[in-house]
Amino acid sequence: MSNLEAQYRIEKEPYYREVNGEVGLFEAAYAARLPMMVKGPTGCGKSRFIEYMAWRLKRPLVSVACNEDMTASDLVGRFLLDKDGTKWQDGPLTTAARIGAICYLDEVVEARQDTTVVIHPLTDHRRSLPLDKKGELIHAHADFQLVISYNPGYQSAMKDLKQSTKQRFGALDFSYPDRETEIEIVAHESGVSADIAGKLVSIAERSRNLKGHGLDEGLSTRMLIYAGSLMKKGVDALSACSMALVRPMTDDPDMRDALDAAVGTFF
Ligand SMILES: Nc1ncnc2c1ncn2[C@@H]1O[C@H](COP(=O)(O)OP(=O)(O)OP(=O)(O)O)[C@@H](O)[C@H]1O
Ligand SMILES: [Mg+2]
Repeated sequence: MSNLEAQYRIEKEPYYREVNGEVGLFEAAYAARLPMMVKGPTGCGKSRFIEYMAWRLKRPLVSVACNEDMTASDLVGRFLLDKDGTKWQDGPLTTAARIGAICYLDEVVEARQDTTVVIHPLTDHRRSLPLDKKGELIHAHADFQLVISYNPGYQSAMKDLKQSTKQRFGALDFSYPDRETEIEIVAHESGVSADIAGKLVSIAERSRNLKGHGLDEGLSTRMLIYAGSLMKKGVDALSACSMALVRPMTDDPDMRDALDAAVGTFF
């Protein structure tokens, strides 16, 4: 194993509870080296799932958080100036293609479209990556796979992926786990009892019904884990919920009241 590969290797099994057959589907997609898109609201387990799958498939994982200032060079690489002159430095996408990693581009819609197109030749039969500035064409390692994440609903028409990008991927839809599974996850990750986790999940269910009625999104699994973690640190339930569930979500007084009322019903 090369040094680089070791650096991106996931040694310890990440905790992941399967929700809807996604493990087997992803394994089949990986076997076919199909580029994949994982879609779903924030905090529902997309990143954790990819970490788990990389571990399970014994592939290194190179993750990149995308943003609108990102350029193609940030993904592909650039020449850097040092005391001995200029030296080429691979970007994370290039590294992943060379070592046969799973490359996870998080929130890829945030990147500008001219950045996104650099992934095109990697995601069709070519499986190649031109390093234009360096004058090199890389052929991706046989084990390389590209995965992107996508929060449907957040993007305006201006900021959506082009069809020519979307149609290069298979997609798996993620949503919040079913009640029993979510309770188990919240209890496991925060350390609270199943009873308390159940109450947190009930609050989340209420909030998810407010989606589209004043809330853009319901409470995520991640927030429930935060609330539980605060309780485990000795914070009383009402303060923990206020701090981790209600206050971050909204500044609208009516919405706060509605969420506070949901908290008050269970704690
Ligand atoms: N199915 C699951 N199994 C285990 N843990 C989970 C699961 N779903 C959610 N979690 C927990 O929820 C937390 C948030 O999940 P994660 O970071 O994967 O969300 P995400 O979908 O990538 O969100 P974002 O779009 O904001 O990046 C994780 O740290 C993990 O503790
Ligand atoms: Mg994520």
